[in-house]
Amino acid sequence: MFLSNGVKQKKEWWKTAFNKDYLTADSYFVSKARTKREISFLLKLTGKIGLTKSAEILDLACGYGTHAIALAKHEFNVTGIDTSEYFLKIARETSKKQKQKVQFSKKDMRTLSFKKRFNLIINMYTSFGYFAEESDNLLVLRKISRALKPKGFLLIDLNNLSQVFFQFYQNGASTGKNNIVSMFQNETLKNGKRLVIKKEIDPLTMHWTITYSWKERRKQKNLQLRIRLFSLPEFRRMLEESGLKIKRVWGYYDGSPYRFDSRRLIILARKAWVIKKTNA
Ligand SMILES: C[S@@+](CC[C@H](N)C(=O)[O-])C[C@H]1O[C@@H](n2cnc3c(N)ncnc32)[C@H](O)[C@@H]1O
Repeated sequence: MFLSNGVKQKKEWWKTAFNKDYLTADSYFVSKARTKREISFLLKLTGKIGLTKSAEILDLACGYGTHAIALAKHEFNVTGIDTSEYFLKIARETSKKQKQKVQFSKKDMRTLSFKKRFNLIINMYTSFGYFAEESDNLLVLRKISRALKPKGFLLIDLNNLSQVFFQFYQNGASTGKNNIVSMFQNETLKNGKRLVIKKEIDPLTMHWTITYSWKERRKQKNLQLRIRLFSLPEFRRMLEESGLKIKRVWGYYDGSPYRFDSRRLIILARKAWVIKKTNA
């Protein structure tokens, strides 16, 4: 069956979206306190899963390196990959300033070529589900599985589909052309700038499109992201098809359990000893 996507969008939006403008729009969501919570969660996790010093960790879609650098400080061998030159430059400069060794490189996650290399792969802050083709999302999980050592772990931090729906209906969402559900949010950034956020969901594709608009030096700025939302059972099936089995699920970085209204869907999965043959 053909599945429509009524929201007009550049196919590979993620190739250009993660730049200076993204940092402006995202400053509404990211705070020092949140980053601190994420890092403390990751550090506790490395203890729980028994990682010893010099274990190999991959930060997949590492952005400007926050988590990778924090893990390197604890003497893990950390590799960070991302496609954004802008973020990678910040990551390299920060790690140099903080005297931390992290191997940062520019790579599309679909082309991961590591085999049985990592004890842990992390994918933080909704860095999954960006591709127009469903098969590409699955391909990434297969590449992750191949890059993990047997019994290695994947920690993936996604948006919670049901909480996104709660937000829509709490904010007076309306249904329009092609049954796209949309809502608007007006926010003020820390620097006083007004930010308008338009959110849309296509019920046929489960693509969540977020458009940020603001003014900067009298210029209108717009930034659009498109993210595939996954239910937990759907994601479990994709993980299992890739040779990964869910071990734990949380709803936030404070370790709270996953619920319909949790802010996040944080999944810890483990690679099986022997995995089914795939084409990845
Ligand atoms: C929402 S940001 C999160 C960054 C980082 N994980 C964090 O928590 O700060 C998503 C990141 O995914 C990266 N990205 C997008 N598409 C990618 C791809 N195909 N391969 C590798 N990285 C990608 C972006 O450049 C961006 O840095």
